[in-house]
Amino acid sequence: MTGASRRAIKLQVNGKPHAAEVDVRLTLADCLRQEFKLTGTHLGCEHGVCGACTVLLDGQSVRACLMLAVQADGRAVATVEGLAGADGKLNILQQAFKDHHGLQCGFCTPGILMTLTECFADKPDLTEQDIRVALSGNICRCTGYQGIVDAAMDALRKMRSLL
Ligand code: FES
Ligand code: FES
Repeated sequence: MTGASRRAIKLQVNGKPHAAEVDVRLTLADCLRQEFKLTGTHLGCEHGVCGACTVLLDGQSVRACLMLAVQADGRAVATVEGLAGADGKLNILQQAFKDHHGLQCGFCTPGILMTLTECFADKPDLTEQDIRVALSGNICRCTGYQGIVDAAMDALRKMRSLL
C-alpha cells in the first residue's frame, strides 16, 4: 500500500524495467539519481535552463528537473548510461566527443549527448547550423562549444557512412 503522498511507479530505463515507490513530488531527475543510482543525469540549475538534466522520454528530450517521476510512470526513459555498448565501448557520438575535445569538466556532457541523440534519430541530414540551434538550450561553461559542434559533425558523418 502507498500513502497519499507516495506512489508506486514502473518504467523502463535504458531498456530495463525499474520500479520504485516515490514521493509524488520527486522529480524524474532525482528519481533517476537517488532511487535508481543513475547519476549520469546531472543537475545544474534545477529550473529548466541549463539542459544538464536532459534525458529522453519515449524518444523525446525532456528536462528531468522539471518533470515528476510519477509522470514517467509506464514510459521509456533513456539516459546517458544507456549510450555505451554492454561491453562499455563508447558509441559513435561519445567517441567523437573524446576525439574532438568536446568536453572539459563534463558536467554538461550527458545532457548534450542526449539532446544530440534525439536530433540524430530524427534528422540525419542536419547541418552545423541545425546542431548549433539544437544545442542552444544546453549550457556549457568550459568548452566554448566549438569542440562540441566538431564532435557532433564528425559523429554525423560517421553515422551517415553506415547508412
Ligand atoms: S538542471 Fe534541469 S535544466 Fe538545468
Ligand atoms: S564541459 Fe564543463 S560545462 Fe561543459
